[in-house]
Amino acid sequence: MFNEFINFVRKIYLKKNVPLHEPKFIGNEKKYLKQCIDTSFVSSVGKFVDKFEKKIAKYTRAKYVIATTNGTSAIHISLILAGVDSNHEVITQPLNFIASCNAISYCNASPIFVDVDKDTMGLSPYALEDFLKKNTIIKNKKCINKKTKKIIKACIPTHTYGHSCRIDEIKKILNKYYIFLIEDASESLGSFYKNKHTGTFGKLGVISFNGNKIITAGGGGCIITNHKKLAQKAKHLTTTAKVVHKWEFNHDMIGYNYSMPNINAALLVAQLEKLNDFLINKRNLAKKYKFFFKKTNLNYFEEPKNCKSNYWLNTIILKNKIQRDQFLKKTNLNGIMTRPTWKLMNKLQMFKNAQCDGLKNSKWLEDRIVNIPSSVTP
Ligand SMILES: Cc1ncc(COP(=O)(O)O)c(C=O)c1O
Repeated sequence: MFNEFINFVRKIYLKKNVPLHEPKFIGNEKKYLKQCIDTSFVSSVGKFVDKFEKKIAKYTRAKYVIATTNGTSAIHISLILAGVDSNHEVITQPLNFIASCNAISYCNASPIFVDVDKDTMGLSPYALEDFLKKNTIIKNKKCINKKTKKIIKACIPTHTYGHSCRIDEIKKILNKYYIFLIEDASESLGSFYKNKHTGTFGKLGVISFNGNKIITAGGGGCIITNHKKLAQKAKHLTTTAKVVHKWEFNHDMIGYNYSMPNINAALLVAQLEKLNDFLINKRNLAKKYKFFFKKTNLNYFEEPKNCKSNYWLNTIILKNKIQRDQFLKKTNLNGIMTRPTWKLMNKLQMFKNAQCDGLKNSKWLEDRIVNIPSSVTP
């Protein structure tokens, strides 16, 4: 069966060795990059950043978009905008890329890990409500952790591998507990929940354009929001908090050099022109995988209810850790790149003392998830 899978993937990609997710540059990338070089606008000034922000705003229907150096810096700024500091805790999911936990740490705050749902791989509203009911009290419109006496200030759910979590239910709960919602839509450009783009449910949403994402700037990210004041402050903070003036240098607070260079934005503008084609292609690939795995005893992860997914990384759920490891070994030794999911964040030594709920589903998924080749097909 593992051999059948290897042959199937080779047939799809028309090659022997297949990476997990490689970028595809088949549009105006070279043309726009040349324009940057020819005009010398490669850095913080240039038309492409503006163009990119407008295009993402139009696509996601977010009112404001702020381009950043990467997804991690976008999460960091979002946490600052939420007011997170050393007196605070931030709820997130343990089944996650490390970016959120790093950004929480940059703010000197602590993560709390709450379980995911098995059918979304994203933060579970049921586990969230259960945790908040048992562990917090509300005082002066602040959610206080009974154990640490700290304020739980923000929550970062992730739309894992491009599939949406139950974000509207999560939002309702967080509103009740006065917790600020930052959506990590790093992996889910092109994914919609109940016809609304992921990342636009929270006060702030974050998207990544790292080299392995559905479209890439080489490195890049953005914050999306409908709140003008937050957008203005995000732009200010990501551009070293420089007060706008034709020649003077004045900075009115500690800022960050987190703005996306024009040269990266140029790549993204070209990539965005292909996004719809990529999405169609990826959903076709998902269909092929679904059909293939139906004939096997392996479980292919399909988009959750109410979600139209970009199928960023296709995922299968193996029977147990032993079968997972056999599959990983067989495929990788044969040139088919497959990967397990991330080690749970609460197991990393920096976060081993973080507060957690039971994390039953996260542990179960950690042993079984394998990501399979998902690049746009030839
Ligand atoms: C879920 C998630 N969050 C955040 C990030 C961070 O993005 P970046 O690598 O652009 O900093 C990534 C991916 O890279 C991610 O997959």
